[in-house]
Amino acid sequence: MKRHTFLSAFRPDLFHPDESLSTPDKFCIFEPGKMTNMIPIRVAELFGIPGDGRVVTVKGWVRTKRGNRQISFIALNDGSVIHSVQVVVDIARHGEEFLRKINTGACISVTGKLVTSQGQGQAFEIQADHIEVLGGADETYPLQKKGHSLEFLREIAHLRPRTNTFGAVFRIRHHLSFAIHKYFNDNGFFCLHAPIITGSDAEGAGEMFQVTTLNISNPPRNEDGSVNFREDFFGKPANLTVSGQLEAELAALALGKVYTFGPTFRAENSNTPRHLAEFWMIEPEVAFNDIWNNMDLAEDFLKFLVKYALEHCHDDLEFLNNLYDKELLTRLRFVVENPFERLSYSEATNVLIKSGKKFEFPVRWGTDLQKEHENFLVDYFKRPAILTDYPKEIKAFYMKQNDDGKTVRAMDILFPWIGEIIGGSQREENYDALLGRIHELQIPEKDLWWYLDTRKFGSCVHSGFGLGFERLILFVTGMTNIRDVIPFPRTPKNAEF
Ligand code: 4AD
Ligand code: MG
Repeated sequence: MKRHTFLSAFRPDLFHPDESLSTPDKFCIFEPGKMTNMIPIRVAELFGIPGDGRVVTVKGWVRTKRGNRQISFIALNDGSVIHSVQVVVDIARHGEEFLRKINTGACISVTGKLVTSQGQGQAFEIQADHIEVLGGADETYPLQKKGHSLEFLREIAHLRPRTNTFGAVFRIRHHLSFAIHKYFNDNGFFCLHAPIITGSDAEGAGEMFQVTTLNISNPPRNEDGSVNFREDFFGKPANLTVSGQLEAELAALALGKVYTFGPTFRAENSNTPRHLAEFWMIEPEVAFNDIWNNMDLAEDFLKFLVKYALEHCHDDLEFLNNLYDKELLTRLRFVVENPFERLSYSEATNVLIKSGKKFEFPVRWGTDLQKEHENFLVDYFKRPAILTDYPKEIKAFYMKQNDDGKTVRAMDILFPWIGEIIGGSQREENYDALLGRIHELQIPEKDLWWYLDTRKFGSCVHSGFGLGFERLILFVTGMTNIRDVIPFPRTPKNAEF
């Protein structure tokens, strides 16, 4: 039998049958007809090699099967790229009976020659020599036809990654996740893993999920009837974190530049297309940065991420652009190429009041901005906007107080359609001012002794912000519901899968 030696270890797919037999690298032997255990090449890699008849193995899931009595065309997708590879099957050779087992949703392994395609719609195709059904799928497979609604796909979130849309979204999610670590690593930041279980409410909004091992139907009680948390796992009440910021601040005052990237949890009953109960947040924190440095960092970071997506997710973005939102790519390029608008909260409220527009929530200095106001501002300036110096009453206790006694050095970044994508601030580094604010807001001082300590020992100006990862992905993908950019969304009354 003619035997071929492969050039690279376990990469038979890169081998051309006519290549010289003299290579000394004897890692793997190719024997025509015995190819079931070949290491598969991924469809993404097929684009990098010529369709010159070399033998490849691809493993993936059948998207569609069509054809005539002689030939069957299978669209096989392995998730590595949005594109499926066309597999051409000679029915007489493989048998009608066998082909009937290959249905939409089935997982198969195909070995055959990679050739330039004669047909339209694809550059190359695989002429199947050997097909193995690894996992069959029958007619109850829910993704039979194209064009399922996003609402329906949410109900089958365990299978939706097998659609083009969710394949694209989750690949983009991956690339952005990687880009975040790259940006910070390249810029001298250290990654800090903030705890997920915590005793403190960083944002002071009281929207925390409690973590307990007590029997909630019959908890141990104190004499006054209240629950005795000394008997709980941590000996005191504990919650899932709403933010890693406070811990990031501790680290920034030691390592200089740090960031967290982890899950955060909010028990707010917000059933909107922009809120999740479990979402991922990126929180850089930098010693010696003031609010202006903070704005520069945030703008540079966001532009880097959007640019990275444009450069690394081209095919997926093009697919989403064509299917859902024809303006997507233009909008992304616009954000990368243009400076963000910067103005104070007071200036923003003036713009809103002067506009004369009848808002559902009337604008008055001191009230929190609503979605409709944020949208108006972004439309008005025709670009993302960074708002600063908000009234202290509507912002968290840790923000640096301005000399006017009314505002704090907060900064929110507003994006088209998304609204607030980043919330951040310069932090109050002055011990007395911070303690004063903690007392004013009646936050239990004893819970924050460690946070206050950093203002006692070697305190300095520092700033940071939080980027909602899913809101970033919403913006980059052009999807309109936050439930469609996280694999398994957690929202009020929903924790399926
Ligand atoms: O504005 P937030 O509440 O700020 C903080 O948590 C600060 N500790 C951040 C910091 O300064 N280190 O949240 C930050 C961002 C928001 O701008 C938004 O993008 C996102 O987190 N976010 C949510 N995303 C999805 N679902 C929710 N329920 C969200 N709440 C906030
Ligand atoms: Mg906020």
